Amino acid sequence: NWTMVNIVEEQVARVRSEVGAKRVVCALSGGVDSAVAGALVQRAIGDQLTCVFVDHGLLRKGEAEQVEKDFVAATGVSLKVVDAQDRFLDALAGVSDPEEKRKIIGREFIRVFEQAAREVVAAGGAADEPVEFLVQGTLYPDVVESGGGTGTANIKSHHNVGGLPEDLRFTLVEPLRELFKDEVRRVGEELGLPAEMVWRQPFPGPGLGIRIIGSVTRERLDILREADAIARDELSRAGLDRHIWQCPVVLLADVRSVGVQGDGRTYGHPVVLRPVTSEDAMTADWAQVPYEVLGTISNRITNEVPEINRVTLDVTSKPPGTIEWE
Ligand code: XMP
Repeated sequence: NWTMVNIVEEQVARVRSEVGAKRVVCALSGGVDSAVAGALVQRAIGDQLTCVFVDHGLLRKGEAEQVEKDFVAATGVSLKVVDAQDRFLDALAGVSDPEEKRKIIGREFIRVFEQAAREVVAAGGAADEPVEFLVQGTLYPDVVESGGGTGTANIKSHHNVGGLPEDLRFTLVEPLRELFKDEVRRVGEELGLPAEMVWRQPFPGPGLGIRIIGSVTRERLDILREADAIARDELSRAGLDRHIWQCPVVLLADVRSVGVQGDGRTYGHPVVLRPVTSEDAMTADWAQVPYEVLGTISNRITNEVPEINRVTLDVTSKPPGTIEWE
């Protein structure tokens, strides 16, 4: 695809002239945008770049492995992985308010990332220069939404790493800021990233933490991770990945209902399927997933995840509903 080749070449040249011989750090979230941005910058400047992946324990099934193995294999990037699962779970213990959760996750992320970035600085690198640049996977719609300026700090806190501490100020490198989501995906393919990575659904920074209605625990995360993996698996199998924008699976962790399975009464939790179609996530319609596919997802989740005994469907558009439940 010549257009994508051109975009890649143009951005590679631009990144090279922007950063010179300086060192660059990139926070990988497990999402498409940061992966493609990181891969592009890697293509441009090789091991002047260090990617940092904070595993906060709120990721989907297989996602951490995908970053640690497939992304590294595809790009040859130098990656620093921080296992911060316990730290995030401790900080989130007993918290069920959505905004409170977001604040805690954002705050812990910045602390962990800051520490990791300092270690990258201390470790020195190929070019013997301090880290001065931070890669952000900002897309064109984000630029428009935040008022269009370039620079250092006008990313809405909703996305990406948000407010970095004063004493750790980077100049941003934003190689995707002229692109829409589908172009980013095609650039990712052009850069040789695995299709499962490039075509996966958007996923919020706070991860599964805002898809558990109630407080976040390791057990609840494990339950939701299994249900989410089944839904994604069946939607992909049905060929719906490119039709649906995303399909959050939400665990109503504080709700229980009575069911029956085998010879016994169950008293388990419901999950909600939230399939939507959208252009840019600003508005969305509930997606008309075929009944057979919904049926298969429901059967599999209730059979394979013992704690879940009911699967429900959210048929609310945005507005008035948001895509996520929290
Ligand atoms: P809502 O729920 O606001 O979601 O309709 C719109 C899109 O944004 C994603 N989302 C987030 N992304 N940090 C993110 O990086 C967040 O805190 C966050 N909250 C929602 C959501 O998945 C959807 O694609």
